[in-house]
Amino acid sequence: MNVGIIGAGHIAEKMATTLGRVEDCSCLAIASRSLEKAQDFAARFGVARAYGSYDNLLADPDVDLVYVATPHSCHFDITRRAILAGKPCLVEKSFMANATEAAAIIALARENGVFVAEAIWPRYMPVLGIAREVLASGVIGKPVTVNATLAYNVSEKERIQSPELGGGALLDLGVYLLNFVRMYCDGQIEQISTSCVKSPTGVDASENISMTLSDGTLVSLQCSAWSQGDNQAVIAGTSGYLVFNDLINPTKLLICRKRHIVEREIVLPEQITGFEYQVRACRDALASGLLEPPQMPHSETLYIMHLMDRLRSEWGTV
Ligand SMILES: NC(=O)c1ccc[n+]([C@@H]2O[C@H](COP(=O)([O-])OP(=O)(O)OC[C@H]3O[C@@H](n4cnc5c(N)ncnc54)[C@H](OP(=O)(O)O)[C@@H]3O)[C@@H](O)[C@H]2O)c1
Repeated sequence: MNVGIIGAGHIAEKMATTLGRVEDCSCLAIASRSLEKAQDFAARFGVARAYGSYDNLLADPDVDLVYVATPHSCHFDITRRAILAGKPCLVEKSFMANATEAAAIIALARENGVFVAEAIWPRYMPVLGIAREVLASGVIGKPVTVNATLAYNVSEKERIQSPELGGGALLDLGVYLLNFVRMYCDGQIEQISTSCVKSPTGVDASENISMTLSDGTLVSLQCSAWSQGDNQAVIAGTSGYLVFNDLINPTKLLICRKRHIVEREIVLPEQITGFEYQVRACRDALASGLLEPPQMPHSETLYIMHLMDRLRSEWGTV
């Protein structure tokens, strides 16, 4: 599978590094708004083709999958053009700037028979199956509370500060917390209470999201793009608790019984960067002729986008 990357920024570098090491895949092309920047990126990551326009990459017949690695506000336009050019797409999280855009892109992809997926990498990682097995085994009893934090101080980044680029903590980081709840909790969201502190530019800088689920689980999430957090997640049950040492990319899970006594430590499989799982999921889905990856169906992407719209409408952020 030949991948073409759109946007030669931070996360594009991680994807190019990953693609260089994934079997049956290669990073064939990079597109930037600046040809010089694309050429520099290509030289640093051993990418064969460098384009100074996104449309030139979309017109390359050898590109099998387009990875959209631009700010959230640009995802819609680039993905729309890619779909119309018949190119399957893996779009960085958050999938789009809002649910209206997400629904339109998914409808367009289906109409045109083109694969599109959200690059929300924890959905594709082996930890999902492993942690779900732990929960199903009953070792921590019935889950009662979920506590999770995700905070990185990325406030200096223009795309985080700027409302026009789809900035703020929710689209960048909170999206992982909401996905975590959907990945590991059985209950449906029945109640949400939330509060938000805004940045001087008017984006959501930090937020609390509390939820009550239909099975009685109480969820407490905290997110910030203006501080560094411990970024752990804990699911506590009637007879113990499960710790993810990192919410997005854990290296181990801890099963604890009482007051920090670790009963079992599960070391998660070694990986390239962790991005390889979403790349392989796209490769396999394309080989099977699917229009969405089973690991992250369009219905889930849409659910999360609607939830984020609801939260932002409560905070008065657009
Ligand atoms: N999966 C993860 O762990 C992870 C981590 C960080 C970010 N992300 C996601 O990846 C995406 C990009 O984030 P990033 O941190 O890589 O951002 P970044 O470093 O700012 O790079 C974004 C790139 O988008 C292109 N771009 C197109 N239009 C732009 C505009 N109007 N303003 C600024 N840049 C524009 C630029 O590339 P050219 O100048 O080359 O055209 C820029 O380098 C976001 O969706 C973000 O949520 C994912």
